Amino acid sequence: MFNRIKQDIQAVKDRDPAAKNTLEVVLCYPGLHALLAHRVAHFFSRRGLVLLPRLFSHLSRFLTGIEIHPGARIGESFFIDHGMGVVIGETTEIGSNVTLYQGVTLGGTGKETGKRHPTIGDNVVVGAGAKVLGPIEIGENSRIGAGSVVLQTVPANATVVGIPGRVVYYNGEKVPSINLNHTDMPDPVAEALNRLQEQIDQLRCQKMDCSQAGLRNGGMCKSGHENL
Ligand SMILES: CC(C)(COP(=O)(O)OP(=O)(O)OC[C@H]1O[C@@H](n2cnc3c(N)ncnc32)[C@H](O)[C@@H]1OP(=O)(O)O)[C@@H](O)C(=O)NCCC(=O)NCCS
Repeated sequence: MFNRIKQDIQAVKDRDPAAKNTLEVVLCYPGLHALLAHRVAHFFSRRGLVLLPRLFSHLSRFLTGIEIHPGARIGESFFIDHGMGVVIGETTEIGSNVTLYQGVTLGGTGKETGKRHPTIGDNVVVGAGAKVLGPIEIGENSRIGAGSVVLQTVPANATVVGIPGRVVYYNGEKVPSINLNHTDMPDPVAEALNRLQEQIDQLRCQKMDCSQAGLRNGGMCKSGHENL
């Protein structure tokens, strides 16, 4: 038990450059407080108690802003940075060395019963405000971008961003995506008008009209015909 608490404190020191010493971590990190409260609540929950662990979890939520259901299984060296608004559902399973930022939800979609929350692999990082929903798996070493909504299983060693979440890196390689940059799309109407304008210029030149245009453009009309 004490070994585990030491690991949890060390996880904060390892992963938050702002953490200066052990006393500061013990006193000022709501993620650590919520985790310790959860370890106690989970202990009672596994022994078949219902109300006492829920009360523990509820009190912890009141104090830290982090809601972890007593049934959730959490591995060693777990770190919740900042913490406020984190929700972890009853059937969530979390591996070792996992990091969550504030506002993360590991929740259900509302459609499933039984196992209805995600399974998070070792060394996963879930960015601020990300929602991981349903009984899906997040493979080890994967990263979920801040604000993403992930509804499908993610392979190991992947980076997922967006709504719905899509893999942008896999095994360190960038995954090519469709270019949806609408602002740079060709404008066929403008192109047709430009072509029309060029033809009009040419005709003007050919009809000797371009003597005036040539004067304006230094002896050449706009389409490149010499001043006639
Ligand atoms: C997802 C994340 C880990 C990716 O980091 P990275 O490996 O350096 O990836 P890149 O910055 O090269 O981004 C890859 C692509 O994903 C996009 N992207 C990155 N993060 C994104 C996000 N959160 N939402 C949407 N798109 C995102 C980038 O714009 C880039 O797109 P492009 O290829 O079209 O240019 C990181 O951006 C992130 O969100 N980390 C969470 C950090 C956090 O929550 N901090 C809270 C501190 S309080």
